[in-house]
Amino acid sequence: MTSATSAAGIVEELRARTVNGGAEEFPYTLLLGHLRSVGKHFLDAGLLRLLDEIRGSLPQPEGRDGPSFLHRFLDVVLDKHDDRYDYPSYTALSLLTRPVPADWREALRSRDETVLLLLADLIRFEERSATDTPDAPHGMPPSPELVAKRARLAVRVMEPAALRTLPPGGAVDPVAVAAVPGRTPGGPLAAEILRTAGPEEDLALVGSVQPVYVLHDEYLFLRTLQSFETTFTFMSSALATAVRRLDGDRPGEAADLVGTVADVLKESLPLFSLLATMRPEAFQTFRTFTEGASAIQSAGYKTFESLCSTPSHGRLASPAYTSVPQVHAWVTNGQATVQDTWHGLIAAHRLDPADDAALRAAADRLESVHQRWKQTHYRLAVRMIGERSGTGYTEGVPYLAAVLDNRLFPARDRHGALVG
Ligand code: HEM
Repeated sequence: MTSATSAAGIVEELRARTVNGGAEEFPYTLLLGHLRSVGKHFLDAGLLRLLDEIRGSLPQPEGRDGPSFLHRFLDVVLDKHDDRYDYPSYTALSLLTRPVPADWREALRSRDETVLLLLADLIRFEERSATDTPDAPHGMPPSPELVAKRARLAVRVMEPAALRTLPPGGAVDPVAVAAVPGRTPGGPLAAEILRTAGPEEDLALVGSVQPVYVLHDEYLFLRTLQSFETTFTFMSSALATAVRRLDGDRPGEAADLVGTVADVLKESLPLFSLLATMRPEAFQTFRTFTEGASAIQSAGYKTFESLCSTPSHGRLASPAYTSVPQVHAWVTNGQATVQDTWHGLIAAHRLDPADDAALRAAADRLESVHQRWKQTHYRLAVRMIGERSGTGYTEGVPYLAAVLDNRLFPARDRHGALVG
């Protein structure tokens, strides 16, 4: 996606193609090349009206089939035009979300494959910025040193996932990773991963970067958010399975699942180091056009949090949960949690001390990794926005300071009386 066609050129192309062809002929690359060269916030009104018409003419899905890829894609392009712009549409989550497999090992594999694709694509994008024909968005290009640093930090998140999913003998050497993690060369690893992508994955990858403005670093911001979201989806599904295992008197398996959730969140923490390489002046420029989209609207994060224990009344009534109405409804409808189900087993004398200790150890690990997640997020926000308010309409950093006191597994005597 190198040279950008003008809005008038795209309109002409779209009119020609929709007369003759179906949805599969939609000129995704052409439209995205244009969108990334001007920013989604600045799309031409005539082009937006035509895209809206095309969306209106698409066949309506029947039965259990959701909207087609093209329909979801156009919903993302048109979010600002429709006045529906928010965090899920900014991050194009509907284009990346795969059905979550019921088996947790398969769910982990699915998370690993998606995160690897997202970060491999990021490395490719960063490396192309140094060529004669960099991909858009190309405002404020990075130095070669910054590109190399980003590849190294992305590799730190990719290595554990690659060791679990890629065939042995490829770009990642398990012995070298065990000795010194983070040294796998990023370019060859990215190339190996991208070679495995089929046409549907390629389309999801290209369609899911719709920056609001034209600065290079927004690509990094989007891919980091998407990688975390993919991780939260896995964490939520594994914790829901842990609740079922507890309910089915299999606490040892539940403890293993909670421990795996802690491990995967820990592996993902270097995503924050990667995002910390974003230049604050770039972020402060493009965030002018992201007002109304904030990760406080992340349903994935609130789902995993509320599967650990029921949030306090105060937190439920705060923007933390009023920003995610679907998750709020699950909680108020009495969604079962790890902590309640676990304590139910203790009360019913159905939990032996060894299983209780294993659950305690796993929950403590998850708690401590999540505290690190919140502290790192807080420090990143201080660095990037200082005293500015959040794009999710909170005061910003003071909101993040207040949530540091919350716990995923509050002590039983504090339960229901959390700060939040
Ligand atoms: C430049 C980097 C970032 C900054 C400046 C930032 C800033 C903020 C701010 C100010 C809030 C409060 C809500 C608001 O008014 O918007 C918030 C909430 C949140 N952010 Fe970030 N954030 C950043 C990166 C991330 C990333 C990479 C993630 C991962 C998905 C993330 C996840 C969250 C979540 C889950 C919340 C809600 C926390 C809660 O309600 O307890 N943020 N962020």
